[in-house]
Amino acid sequence: MRNIAIVTGASSGVGREFIRQLNAGAGGPLDEIWAIARRQDRLDAIKAESKTPVRDFALDLTDQASYDVIEKELAEDETINVQWLINSAGFGKYGDFTQIGERGNAGMVRLNCLALVQMTYHALLRMHEGSRIVNLASVAALVPQPGISVYGATKRFVLDLSMALDEELGPVGIHVTAVCPKYMRTEFLDRPGDQHAVDKTTFIGFEEPRDVVREALAAAVRGRQVCVPSWDMKVVYVLAKILPARFMVAGERFMGDWTTERLT
Ligand SMILES: NC(=O)c1ccc[n+]([C@@H]2O[C@H](COP(=O)([O-])OP(=O)(O)OC[C@H]3O[C@@H](n4cnc5c(N)ncnc54)[C@H](OP(=O)(O)O)[C@@H]3O)[C@@H](O)[C@H]2O)c1
Repeated sequence: MRNIAIVTGASSGVGREFIRQLNAGAGGPLDEIWAIARRQDRLDAIKAESKTPVRDFALDLTDQASYDVIEKELAEDETINVQWLINSAGFGKYGDFTQIGERGNAGMVRLNCLALVQMTYHALLRMHEGSRIVNLASVAALVPQPGISVYGATKRFVLDLSMALDEELGPVGIHVTAVCPKYMRTEFLDRPGDQHAVDKTTFIGFEEPRDVVREALAAAVRGRQVCVPSWDMKVVYVLAKILPARFMVAGERFMGDWTTERLT
């Protein structure tokens, strides 16, 4: 069997860090890494620095034709075992629902939810016992998110889908892990939309992508359904299961208002 890892969102941030760590052997021996993102120059750079052979796929995952390419490439070699699928491609637009508009809101659903579903489907057909899927959710999945309502809901979708799929696939030895990080300094916040809405949520703090990826890979190897890397968000994860959602939203709003007032 030819063991491969497929990483979406490979050109930047978390996806790129997954490729670094998989290349360094953190996910076991791999014959090839398939790197998917739109920017060819970034994929070329990743290819050049990786000792594991990297196949670059400059694809827009909101374009249906991209899945024809992936399906064809996966069908070409019967010995392929997709050992890892890392669904990291995603983006978030901040602001009120109407302010973000139809295209912005629909775009998040297309990439954060639909693309993840389609990638998962195609990869699963070539997975075997021991294969792993890692889906980038967010702490935004834990509590409803006024001010980033659609983004938060897409991440809740990722969290719930991952948990349900893990239950479905567990009996055949395939596990799905949803990762819920805090903020990370990647390109994610380069063009976020409403900066005020961003400022109201960054009080939760930042994590390093390398720590998040290390924890995520370890959680996935152990077959954990959910990985919340930071200790404070582990507390929020537990509280969100116990307390009413409206209480959690009010608490988050209070903290956001308090920290932004102190900054101005
Ligand atoms: N950074 C954070 O604070 C944070 C916190 C919690 C969760 N997350 C989640 O973590 C994941 C990774 O985010 P990040 O921080 O690494 O953000 P990032 O640095 O902006 O990376 C996003 C990646 O997605 C790719 N991408 C965007 N649109 C695409 C499309 N239409 N088709 C294919 N690829 C596309 C980008 O590549 P191209 O532009 O080259 O296509 C890039 O590689 C996301 O799902 C995000 O929601 C991030």
